[in-house]
Amino acid sequence: MRVLSGMQPSGQLHLGNYFGSMKPNLEYMDKADESFYFVADLHAMTTLHDKEALRQAREDIVRDYLAAGFDPEKAIIYYQSAIPEHTELMWILSTVTPMGLLERAVSYKDKVQKGIDATAGLFTYPVLMAADILLYDTNLVPVGKDQKQHVEMTRDLAAKFNNIFGEVFVLPEPVIREEVAVVPGTDGQKMSKSYGNTIPLFGTDAQIKKAIMGIVTDSKGQEDPKDPDSCVIFQLHKLFLSDSESKTLAKEYKAGIGYGDAKKRLLDAYMDFFAEMRKKRESLTDSYVKDVLEDGAKKARKVAQTTMERVRKSVGL
Ligand code: ADP
Ligand code: TRP
Repeated sequence: MRVLSGMQPSGQLHLGNYFGSMKPNLEYMDKADESFYFVADLHAMTTLHDKEALRQAREDIVRDYLAAGFDPEKAIIYYQSAIPEHTELMWILSTVTPMGLLERAVSYKDKVQKGIDATAGLFTYPVLMAADILLYDTNLVPVGKDQKQHVEMTRDLAAKFNNIFGEVFVLPEPVIREEVAVVPGTDGQKMSKSYGNTIPLFGTDAQIKKAIMGIVTDSKGQEDPKDPDSCVIFQLHKLFLSDSESKTLAKEYKAGIGYGDAKKRLLDAYMDFFAEMRKKRESLTDSYVKDVLEDGAKKARKVAQTTMERVRKSVGL
C-alpha cells in the first residue's frame, strides 16, 4: 500500500493544518508500506511570487514536519521541484484534461473569489496535483476535505488516460479524516491563514497566547451555562482530549465556566500537547534537513523516472 501526500508551503502552520493534514499524514506514515511526502513548492507559486518567502516557507514546512514526528527512515520527503518529472507528466496529462473538469474545480473558484490572480497555473493546479500523485503509483492520498475533489479529478484523469493509452496508472483513493474535518479558527469560521484567525503551531509563546486569549465568545456571564457544541474554546480544547475527558469538560461548560478560565485551560492543554515538538524543532540542524531532502529526492526520482519511462512509451514518445 503506497501513501502519498503533498504539503503546500504557504505560511506558518496552524492548528487546522495539524489536525486536518499533518496528524493524519503522520498516522498513515506509520501504517503504510511505503510513503511519500513532498513539499508542493511549485503549487505554492500559484500564490507566492516572493523569492525569499518561498525559500523560507518550503524549508520551514520540512522542519515543521520533522519536528512533529515525521521519520525519514519510514517515509520519503522531498521538494516537488527537485523532481522534474512532475512537470513533465503534468503536460502530458493536460493533453487529456477536459477544460470542463477544471472549470468545475471548487478550489479554483474559491481562490479567485478570494482575490488570487486567475493565472493558467492556478487553473491547471489540479493537473499538477494529478501528476504528483500518479507519478508514484499511489494508492492512498490522505488530505483535508477541501482537497477531496482534486483527488477525484486525479482518478478521473488516470481512468481517462488508461482508457486511451492502456493500463498505465494506478487509480488513487482520497482518505479524508471526517471527524476533524474542520477546525474552527479564533473567530468561529474555518481556521485559515486567509481569514487571519489561526493559532500557529510553532509561533512564539506570546503569539499563541494572544491568539487563544483572543478567541471570540458570546456575552454570557461567568456563571451562565455554556453550550459546548457552539463554543469555539471547547471545540478546540476537545482536540487535545480523549472522549471521556471531553465529556467531563462538556459538563463543566454546561454547569457554567468562565470564558477567561476556559481559555487559560485551553492554552495549557495546547502548550502541553506541542511542548516536545516545539523543542525538537529548535534542535534540527541545517545540515540534517539538507541531508533528509537530498536523500528523499534521490529515492523519489528513481520511482518517478520509472513511471515516466512507462508513460512516454505508452503515448509514443
Ligand atoms: P489555509 O486554509 O490556512 O490556507 P491550507 O489550505 O494551506 O490552509 O491547508 C493545508 C491543509 O490543511 C489542507 O489539507 C487542509 O485541508 C488542512 N486544513 C487547513 N485548515 C484546516 C481546518 N481549519 N480544519 C481542518 N483542516 C484544515
Ligand atoms: N493541494 C494540496 C493542498 O493544498 C497540496 C498538494 C499538492 C497535494 N499536490 C498534492 C496533496 C498531491 C496530496 C497529493 O493541501
